Amino acid sequence: MPTAPFDFHRSVLLTDTVEALQPVENRLFIDGTLGGGGHAEALLHAGARVIGFDRDATAVAYATRRLAWFGERFTPVHASFSEAPSALARLGIERIGGALLDLGVSSHQLDRADRGFSFMREGPLDMRMDPTSGVPAADLINTAPEETLEDIFRRFGEERAARRIARAIAMERTTKPLRTTQDLVRVVEGAAPRRGKIHPATRVFQAIRIAVNDELGSLERGLAGLAGLLESGSRLAVITFHSLEDRVVKEFFSDRSREWIDRPEWPAPRPNQSRIFRRITRKPITASEAECRENPRARSAKLRVVERI
Ligand SMILES: C[S@@+](CC[C@H](N)C(=O)[O-])C[C@H]1O[C@@H](n2cnc3c(N)ncnc32)[C@H](O)[C@@H]1O
Repeated sequence: MPTAPFDFHRSVLLTDTVEALQPVENRLFIDGTLGGGGHAEALLHAGARVIGFDRDATAVAYATRRLAWFGERFTPVHASFSEAPSALARLGIERIGGALLDLGVSSHQLDRADRGFSFMREGPLDMRMDPTSGVPAADLINTAPEETLEDIFRRFGEERAARRIARAIAMERTTKPLRTTQDLVRVVEGAAPRRGKIHPATRVFQAIRIAVNDELGSLERGLAGLAGLLESGSRLAVITFHSLEDRVVKEFFSDRSREWIDRPEWPAPRPNQSRIFRRITRKPITASEAECRENPRARSAKLRVVERI
């Protein structure tokens, strides 16, 4: 039996997202990040059909149980949303009526110490969203060149002490490999003592998670794949939780919704040949104070929406 929905994950910006996607009877939506199935459930309640993707088999199993009573209107797929075009082709689907990505990890993934996502819980250094493929965080931390680690902390964690932390890890692993989340936390604390409110391990864990799951690469491929499947008039909604993924989405949307492009070497602006979207949100939609009070995770959520023209 599934546990209560909030135990697995509390959906953010639920009403705004579903309103933006305009679900109607029988229209087909892709939920690229099924998680606990909260957004998918709201779309199904509105009469839509949903194909839900997740890289995490635990999330797929949970959402499948939760959404079973919608019968054939819901189809789960255990895969990355970046594989949506080929997975949908196998199901004989060429066009979709809308898509949603609610990025990052679920509360369930963070809460499970054995997944290694949280620096506050002792567990193995894994951090894979799909533990059946790819390499665990421990492999990266114990074998990547020091410069690669530094680059990961700088690019994906925007960490100022990237070099010091990478050096401390490289020193530590010459005596014994880092195996657990707390092994890594201790090294990070030693190299970059806590100053402000944010624990020094926050950005390092974010950076490693992004690298281990190739989150930004999957996002770029996923956006391009989904954009190619949207039928005219249908919408793509994306919820991001940190500036790196938000930048990818913002640029992807802006490059494809701008009417004109101008370059210094051109005598006049030219029509944008890559224009396929109409912008629905000029500024991202963020959560209300009330939602943030109830669900602190909503504080950093940003919802951006475009419509296929
Ligand atoms: C924030 S949760 C989604 C919560 C969901 N919207 C809900 O209402 O319960 C993010 C989920 O997306 C999954 N995920 C992240 N990146 C993915 C990707 N590239 N492909 C498929 N699933 C992904 C994670 O495994 C996680 O279960």
